[in-house]
Amino acid sequence: TSRTFSQLHSNPERSSFGIAFDIDGVILRGRTPIGGSPQALKRLYSECGTMKIPFLFLTNGGGVPESKRAIELSELLDVNILPLQHLSFMSLMQVVQGHYPFKTLVAGYENKLIVAIGKGEPAEVMSDYGFKKVLSMDEYASYFDNIDPLAQYKIWEAKTTFREDRSLLPRYDVLSERVQAAFIVSDPVDWSRDIQVLCDILTSGGLPGQANRHQPPLYFAADDLEYQAAFPSMRLGMGAFRIALEAIFSEIHPLPLEYTSYGKPNSFVFKNAEAILKQLQQLSCDEHDVLHNGDAVNHSFRTLYMIGDNPSVDIKGAQQARSPWLSILTRTGVFRGEINDPEFPADLVVDDVEEAVDYIFRRES
Ligand code: G3P
Ligand code: MG
Repeated sequence: TSRTFSQLHSNPERSSFGIAFDIDGVILRGRTPIGGSPQALKRLYSECGTMKIPFLFLTNGGGVPESKRAIELSELLDVNILPLQHLSFMSLMQVVQGHYPFKTLVAGYENKLIVAIGKGEPAEVMSDYGFKKVLSMDEYASYFDNIDPLAQYKIWEAKTTFREDRSLLPRYDVLSERVQAAFIVSDPVDWSRDIQVLCDILTSGGLPGQANRHQPPLYFAADDLEYQAAFPSMRLGMGAFRIALEAIFSEIHPLPLEYTSYGKPNSFVFKNAEAILKQLQQLSCDEHDVLHNGDAVNHSFRTLYMIGDNPSVDIKGAQQARSPWLSILTRTGVFRGEINDPEFPADLVVDDVEEAVDYIFRRES
């Protein structure tokens, strides 16, 4: 059962706290700000524009490097979201996307051929993390004649820029070099081609057209079945694509599909967010803290708030991560209920992100 508002509403000691905001269904719908998000975020800055409360965006979405997304969000929300900044003693960032944990896999694949799938710039995302030999699915598929029998019926294929000059050789010898792993970076665009070519890669040991039962590793940035975009009802997410791929793979291959999913609700995502917020806390530490509380910059958070719209992703994740995480569920996205989610009840349910921030300020004052 969820804790009641009054139980949560007493926080007698001066607390240090931070906030993680979900994006889709809380801050934005498509590219449109919702729930008073620009006003709510402005309250986290002091009058001179410096960050007062450590906060970040914790989204399962993605498709562009974190720094680029920070710039995009700054424009949409009219606040200054930090792109990745390396200072002498720390790295600061305020956007953590579903694919961010892929960064921890670089050592295993640094110079091995990998394929990156999804909307936006999936290969740029992986290169940004340090992967050296990466091809987007768009580019990879373009090197195999007739690999997608439906390509001629896809009007957008005309816009594809890869291999306009068919005499040019591929950047890598994809006809003899095995793909060592496939990464679903963001929501796949062309499901029929992506499922077809992924099945080719996964059932052939990484070389379409060959026979080899060894399945190369497959990684998903997240496993959201549905999410809130600009359309009024929910849209199918990466988890839906995973189900489709898995169902088909199991029909054409003797062994089950092996894969790993990252993103929320995994606990390591919240642990990582806590570590980043800790660094942001040092940036936002005000003079009062330094003068009156010498160790202020080092003390642990008393509370970290996760504001999300998806009970089985955002709220479940915050619950599993346990203290110091508290969960706040908004009614602007996946959750449409009145009281609370029966399966993953949040610590607090509010109408929108503005109400959530308002509540946090009252509790922490
Ligand atoms: O594709 C994005 C979706 O899976 C969820 O995004 O911001 O609600 O975690 P978000
Ligand atoms: Mg969401």
